[in-house]
Amino acid sequence: PFAVSVDTLSKIIGVKLDLMIKRMQDFGISKPSASFILTKDEAFRIAKSYRLVPISTEEEMVDIFSREPDSNIKSYPIRPPVVTIMGHVDHGKTTLLDVLRQSNVASSEAGGITQHIGAFSVKMDQNQSITFLDTPGHAAFSSMRQRGANITDIAVIVVAADDGVMPQTKEAIKYANEAKVPIIIAITKCDKQNSNPEKIKQQLLENEIQVEDFGGDVQVVEVSSISKIGLDSLKENILTLAEIMELHAETSIPVEAVVIESRVAKGKGNEVSLLVKRGTLKVGDTLVAGTSWCKVRSLSNENGKSIKSAGPGYPALTTGWKDLPSGGSLVLGCESESKAKQVTLYREKGERQLLAIEEIEAHNVSISNLL
Ligand code: GTP
Ligand code: MG
Repeated sequence: PFAVSVDTLSKIIGVKLDLMIKRMQDFGISKPSASFILTKDEAFRIAKSYRLVPISTEEEMVDIFSREPDSNIKSYPIRPPVVTIMGHVDHGKTTLLDVLRQSNVASSEAGGITQHIGAFSVKMDQNQSITFLDTPGHAAFSSMRQRGANITDIAVIVVAADDGVMPQTKEAIKYANEAKVPIIIAITKCDKQNSNPEKIKQQLLENEIQVEDFGGDVQVVEVSSISKIGLDSLKENILTLAEIMELHAETSIPVEAVVIESRVAKGKGNEVSLLVKRGTLKVGDTLVAGTSWCKVRSLSNENGKSIKSAGPGYPALTTGWKDLPSGGSLVLGCESESKAKQVTLYREKGERQLLAIEEIEAHNVSISNLL
């Protein structure tokens, strides 16, 4: 049976209890208490009365929600490829990135397990650079691998030479295929005594990866982060593939980016790492992501060095966010703070309405009655 109290409904809709009680009195329900149980009709009438978003606002929002796809894309500047490293837990992703970046992230991680997507840009020769995203291999972080696959140009899937194709290797292959992202295989830990790259190529074949040694077109590179073999060919393979893909992006439009991760940083407040997709991100820009917005207070690279701007294909750390947007959210540059506030308010309302509909549906009531 349908049973929702005044108190619960006010929480569902997200309006203060006393305000809702006032409105109920306007509707002719006399002096309802917080625990008063509403009939289905009453609950719907009240929910409906809060459901409306002014049409004018909705129309105004359209221009920020929808952006024209790049038309004449080849006429824009070349951008660095975004390369996501994926694979089974402990197969050497972070260590490989460390040697490519010549830093030491892996040894400073809690328990040696990557728990987030880290992003950084590595300078190659001849003014080229590659943007790398690290992902966790632990089974629990499936959504992070999926997100990684979705924001990337090329997936480097690592397979440890002494361990072979494992469940999260297969999952990474699946996500890369679903996102239609080309794959390069890096067989890691090839310095190990018991490594068997041939066996791994066979396993890959069994998982429908057409490796080049067997006449396919997926490149396989044997590497070791310890003896540093294969690193140059891996970089070359990435750059060659990127060149074939002709990655261009417009730089002079309002920025469009994606949230890699967000957290509260000590002394800095909300800190959000972004990957720029189009346009140029600058200090002072106004951004909207989900129901959060930001006036960019500071912009820095992955080493914490402050930068003036970040163009397409580059990651950047931003501060100045009102709330933490969730990973994977689309970030759009906005012409003014008032517009940003308007957009987030509009989205919040929309979210609340969806929740209200879900919750009322959970009371076994058909949605059609509500609309
Ligand atoms: P998750 O982020 O937890 O999925 O792990 P990961 O894939 O990032 O693995 P990580 O780089 O943390 O390495 C796991 C272990 O393998 C560490 O103990 C590394 O020292 C070791 N390792 C990584 N690369 C190599 C390599 O090329 N050779 C050898 N012998 N060991 C390696
Ligand atoms: Mg790692």
